[in-house]
Amino acid sequence: MHLLTAFQLFMLALSLTMASDQVTGECEPKINTCNVMPCGMPGSNGLPGRDGNEGPKGEKGDRGERGTIGPPGKLGPMGIKGDPGPVGPKGPKGDNGGNEAALFPSGRAVGETIFKTSGFEGNFEKALQSCRQAGGQVASPRNAAENMAIHEIVTVYNKEALLGMTDMKTEGKFIYPTGESLGYSNWAPGEPNNTRDEEDCVEILKNGKWNDRKCGDSALIICQF
Ligand code: GLC
Ligand code: CA
Repeated sequence: MHLLTAFQLFMLALSLTMASDQVTGECEPKINTCNVMPCGMPGSNGLPGRDGNEGPKGEKGDRGERGTIGPPGKLGPMGIKGDPGPVGPKGPKGDNGGNEAALFPSGRAVGETIFKTSGFEGNFEKALQSCRQAGGQVASPRNAAENMAIHEIVTVYNKEALLGMTDMKTEGKFIYPTGESLGYSNWAPGEPNNTRDEEDCVEILKNGKWNDRKCGDSALIICQF
């Protein structure tokens, strides 16, 4: 007991000595910077510091590595128009889709055949030329329906029109431009009479009937396609 007591006393004396050192050894030198707050009390936190971006500008950095390929650019301007290609082959014959307006007033359709006039007059040679140039031939009705269509155009223009049949080859024997014999005719009474022995062409009169006529005489030109 006495030994423990003596040890306890020793420890007590030691702790008192250290506490005395803290008071005299640490507080005394801080008197100059600790003149407002009581010595030994903890200080409150200060305000946050300012951002550190107000310093001098740094040197330019090294060039970065090349990026990945970007998206495609906008469509460029249109190119210069090229030369037109060659004309294509002629297509099959079609109907006019019931578009009567396209034929008014100079044309008429009968089945797949279209009769049409330019409105010009001329003799047989002129009619051959202009209809061939247009890709057709001089109107040559092969039945009553075709004759009626041509007659309607004659009525619209109020002019007799030339037809394509002739008897140039054999007098008295009229044929189509294709060389075939007539399968249909609509001669006016007394025709063909070959007046003065010089009528090898045919005209369609205003009443729709036919008359043989001089090939050099002019009449309305109607072509068929
Ligand atoms: C008369 C005749 C006809 C003839 C014509 C000649 O109209 O009836 O047949 O072709 O004259 O101009
Ligand atoms: Ca005649």
